[in-house]
Amino acid sequence: MGQRWANLENLLKMNKEWVQEKLNVDADFFNHLKDIQRPEYLWIGCSDSRVPANEIVGLEPGEMFVHRNIANVVIQSDLNCLSVIQYAVEVLKIKHIIVTGHYGCGGVKVAMEHKRMGMIDNWLRSIKDVYCAHEEEVNAIPDEEGRFRRMCELNVKAQVRNVCHTSVVQDAWLRKQELCIHGWIFDVGDGILHDLGVSVHDRNQVHPIYQSE
Ligand code: CO
Repeated sequence: MGQRWANLENLLKMNKEWVQEKLNVDADFFNHLKDIQRPEYLWIGCSDSRVPANEIVGLEPGEMFVHRNIANVVIQSDLNCLSVIQYAVEVLKIKHIIVTGHYGCGGVKVAMEHKRMGMIDNWLRSIKDVYCAHEEEVNAIPDEEGRFRRMCELNVKAQVRNVCHTSVVQDAWLRKQELCIHGWIFDVGDGILHDLGVSVHDRNQVHPIYQSE
């Protein structure tokens, strides 16, 4: 058996250990889990392996609905992300959508450069738009690392706005459903999550042109 397969076997073995750990704490853990999921949060984060959603906020299975893609981008024509938002808001009736970016995001870095990476360039294109919208501010930052960090933050803020502009979120607010959208950023260097202070909980906080009637 090659080393590659041995590694996969190890994952299955670790899964069994995880199951046992859960059962040691609560013998009915999986009986409860299989019946219902009642998460209060939707997490929209980066696919980056260093930002495991549940783990960094200490939530258990069943407690958070999660969508992850490269650079935590919310694009109005992305059926995948829009479906997740719709199901989370209309069926699960989650109360908070948290867009979480992270410093050192490879997707944001690629978007700030000119090198061709392949199909992913199309996915990351909208981050270049974020840069253009804040070019003066970003360019005024003297060091490259500082510019990179600021772009990671600005990308989160832009994606929070994009979530707010979706018909699903607009319609939820119109029917007075309790729903708040937040923008956070994770520092891979120290494990701390920071609230960027851009929470939106009311349709009137959004530009009128995006509001539904
Ligand atoms: Co990333």
